[in-house]
Amino acid sequence: MALLEVKDVRKRFGGLQAVDTVSFAVAEGTIKALIGPNGAGKTTLFNLISGFVSPDGGAISFRERQVQGLRPYQVAAAGMARTFQHIRLFPKMSSLENVMVGRHLHGRSGFLASMLSLPRTRREELKAKDKAMELMDFLGIAGLAGTEATSLSYGQQRLVELARALACEPRLLLLDEPAAGLNMRETAEMASVISKIRDMGITILIVEHDVSLVMNISDEIIVLNYGRKVADDVPLAIQKNEDVIRIYLGGDDA
Ligand SMILES: Nc1ncnc2c1ncn2[C@@H]1O[C@H](COP(=O)(O)OP(=O)(O)O)[C@@H](O)[C@H]1O
Ligand SMILES: [Mg+2]
Repeated sequence: MALLEVKDVRKRFGGLQAVDTVSFAVAEGTIKALIGPNGAGKTTLFNLISGFVSPDGGAISFRERQVQGLRPYQVAAAGMARTFQHIRLFPKMSSLENVMVGRHLHGRSGFLASMLSLPRTRREELKAKDKAMELMDFLGIAGLAGTEATSLSYGQQRLVELARALACEPRLLLLDEPAAGLNMRETAEMASVISKIRDMGITILIVEHDVSLVMNISDEIIVLNYGRKVADDVPLAIQKNEDVIRIYLGGDDA
C-alpha cells in the first residue's frame, strides 16, 4: 500500500475544471514530482491533498486513512507538512520562532498555551527550540536563528519555510515550487537538501517548474496539463514521452 493514494480527484472553479479526475500513488521513501505548464492544476492538487481545498469528488488516502475533506490542521496532524509557492512566514518573528511554529504541532500543550507562556509548557518549549535549532543546522541556516524573517534573502526564507515544515516531523512533505526565485547555486543546494531529506526517510511530493531539477532528484514524475494527468513514469521515460515533449515544446508554456 502506498503512503499516499489519490483516486479520481476532481475540482472545478466556476467554469474551469482545475483538476480533472486525477489518480496517482506515492510510495513510501520516494520523491515524486508534479510538473506541467502554469495553470495545469499543480497547486490546486496540493491544496486538495493538504486539506486547503475540498474535492468535488474522488478519494485521497494517506497512511491508509481517508483524508479528503479534512481540515488542513487535521491532515497535518496525520503526518503531512507542506510549503507554499508564495512563501508564508510571520514577518515580525525571528527565523527560529518561525520554525518553532511548526514544532508546536507536536507539543501537547498546543500553540495558544505556548504563546501565553503557561508554566507547564516551559519544558516543551525548550524541546521545541532544540529541535528547531537542530533542523536549522541541518539546512545550514543555524546562524540566522535570531534574524527577523523580513531581513532574510529569498533563498534563506525558502529554507526557513522548509525547516518549519520539517519541524512537524512529517511522514510526507509537500513542496510547492521550492526553487522558485532561487539562483542557480541556491537551486542546486535546494536539490541536494531535498535528496538528503528523502534519505532521512521522509517521502516527498514536489511541484517544480525547473524540469532539470526534478529530472535529477525524482524517482517518478507526473505530468499535468489542463487539470489532467498526461504521464506518470520514471524520469527517463518522461523525457522520451511524446505527449510531454509536445506540451513543453508546443508553446503552451514559455
Ligand atoms: N481559488 C481559485 N478560484 C478560481 N480559480 C482558481 C483558484 N485556484 C486556482 N484556480 C485556477 O485553476 C487553474 C489551476 O491553477 P493552479 O492549481 O494554481 O495551477 P498551477 O499550480 O499548475 O500553476 C488556474 O487556471 C487557476 O487560475
Ligand atoms: Mg502553482
